[in-house]
Amino acid sequence: MDAASLTMPLLRLLPPETAHDLTIRLLACGLAPRNREADDPILASRLWNLNFPNPVGLAAGFDKNALAYRAILGLGFGFTEVGTVTPRPQSGNPKPRLFRLAEDAAVINRMGFNNDGIETVLPRLQGARAGILGINIGKNKDSTDAVEDYVKGATAFAPLADYLVVNVSSPNTPGLRDLQRREPFLALARAVRAARDDSCAAAGKKAPPLLLKIAPDLDESQIEDVAEVAMTAPADGLIVSNTTIARPAGLRSLYRAEAGGLSGAALFEPSTEVLRRISVLTKGQMPLVGVGGISSGEQAYAKIRAGASLVQLYSALVYHGPRLLGRIKRDLAARLRADGFSSVAEAVGADRDRV
Ligand code: FNR
Repeated sequence: MDAASLTMPLLRLLPPETAHDLTIRLLACGLAPRNREADDPILASRLWNLNFPNPVGLAAGFDKNALAYRAILGLGFGFTEVGTVTPRPQSGNPKPRLFRLAEDAAVINRMGFNNDGIETVLPRLQGARAGILGINIGKNKDSTDAVEDYVKGATAFAPLADYLVVNVSSPNTPGLRDLQRREPFLALARAVRAARDDSCAAAGKKAPPLLLKIAPDLDESQIEDVAEVAMTAPADGLIVSNTTIARPAGLRSLYRAEAGGLSGAALFEPSTEVLRRISVLTKGQMPLVGVGGISSGEQAYAKIRAGASLVQLYSALVYHGPRLLGRIKRDLAARLRADGFSSVAEAVGADRDRV
């Protein structure tokens, strides 16, 4: 038995946020199982001039404060994403604010962007790293100027990021998701883009791709608006999706009525459908990152076939631990081969037009 299989059941005995904080500490001090298995070459892809060794990343919200990203990359993720980071530190919502819905293989969180703020997180991102790092930015709860907050995040982090994410889709910051409406979203994306370019030019760095992370709770006309904003701003990609405020029928856990964003198994179908719609509307021209409910190679593959060039996961790790990653990668490689593909890129969007 390795350290991960021993600690997982113990962590599950602790309250969820305590278990999470402890996991970050263990990772940060090097007590992480290192992935010794080289990635299957069929999983490699090149996107935005970056070489991804495999398409499976860790989603935002796990390493909000950039304390463990080096160890996370060492686990074998193809990339990872820190944040959401806001300009000023904030403590988030009162606890408890994180719930395991074990019967449903799901999680509800209403963390509310608890994070250390730009000034503290920034120095943690300096220096060499082996792997691809996204930085996810947001706004403070009490901020009166949302655009200014995102501009601050972009200015600070763009020169250090391999990709930059504008998160307008957390359900736990009042009013945040209204920024996904057509006009404010376009204005925000353009302002962040300009800040990214100015900051990188001043630092003599190449500007990283700009991605917009959206909610799954969008109707058809809102999905059309998002696709148009992404192409007009233009953004370099979309992350689909954040957690849902919906509570699908069939949830069994007593925690299902807790307020916040639901992630995990029940999010797979709705988030994959929004992903597929966006892929159709952007005609496969906009790189997409598929996230929501992935816990198997089959589901990672389904997101890729729906239009995702990359995928991310979070909730399934709560239940299966880091060894899940190796299983997903091996299974994904086998599925690509079985269908006659020689790379992930070839499979992207294979089911885009399936109705
Ligand atoms: C999240 N997620 C998230 N997303 C984001 O952009 N910024 C954030 O700060 C957070 N924080 C966060 C905390 C917790 C506890 C969870 C469970 C999730 C959303 C996450 O990145 C992802 O989009 C969803 O969780 C859906 O993926 P899974 O969990 O179903 O694989």
